Amino acid sequence: MMPGTLDAVSNAGHSVDLLSHEGPPATDQLCRAVHGAAAIVCLLSDRIDERVLAAGLPTLRVVANVAVGVDNIDLGAARRLGVTVCNTPGVLDAATADLAMALLLAVCRRVVEGDGVVRRGEWTGLSMEGPLGRDLAGMRLGIVGYGRIGKRVAARAAAFDMDVRHHARRDTHEPGYVADLDELLRWSDAISLHVPLTDETRHLLDARRLGLLRAGAIVVNTARGPVLDEAALASALVDGRIGGAGLDVFDDEPHVSRRLLEAPNTVLTPHVGSATTETRAAMCAMAADAVVTVLAGRPYPFVIAGPGEARSADG
Ligand code: GLV
Repeated sequence: MMPGTLDAVSNAGHSVDLLSHEGPPATDQLCRAVHGAAAIVCLLSDRIDERVLAAGLPTLRVVANVAVGVDNIDLGAARRLGVTVCNTPGVLDAATADLAMALLLAVCRRVVEGDGVVRRGEWTGLSMEGPLGRDLAGMRLGIVGYGRIGKRVAARAAAFDMDVRHHARRDTHEPGYVADLDELLRWSDAISLHVPLTDETRHLLDARRLGLLRAGAIVVNTARGPVLDEAALASALVDGRIGGAGLDVFDDEPHVSRRLLEAPNTVLTPHVGSATTETRAAMCAMAADAVVTVLAGRPYPFVIAGPGEARSADG
């Protein structure tokens, strides 16, 4: 956690214990840490399962995830055990949308490859032959998931003169809505994923759907690794059916499969969608506010599960 992150919590009269550890803590460590606690402030790399939630009872009232995605938390167990789960929507939309565009640009304009050529002293002078990239202008971008982040990506892509359409589970009644995901994939030159990871979206982009993409299409994922079939994507990149990928999220973070590491035209970043100073500070402030508000018994607008859920604002 950043320094001062939880000042609002201590200023409200609560004592704060920081669990310091190398890498994500094990379940046993978490269970010991939450014993007797009223609140947990956690990162998406912390697995808050039923055992951890139960270990916090009867004192535990709120889990504040410093992330918008909550796939690291057992929401069903939180509901059953009466623990409120909050996240940090909104404040990270712009940063995440910026990264999706950065990855798309990096792949289309071969930015990382070019950087390597210059650094290795392999640049022999301006060449008409390349390395040639692709224009964003006129390219068809399909956005899968049209929540806050997907909409921000659409606005940015439109400013780059891209032709933008989107798919969401429910009709958005907005221009560019495509009801059938397969149809959107067949149409797209590039796709960007912006759905949360749930049982319904796990491997949403499986081998069959990856096969629907136009030859040479580009895949950008700043959502969650398991939303696409990583092995199928790596194969499609290697055999050239997919023209490139920009990936910020992976199946088994922080491990990245060798096949992806070796795949051509692939730009990989270490899950940094929300990693700007301003955004991370806003996320921490929001999580601290969630804890203070819920523990004071006041209504909190961003409840994902548990007590207070019904009155929560739409995520
Ligand atoms: C980041 O991945 C988040 O869910 O906030």
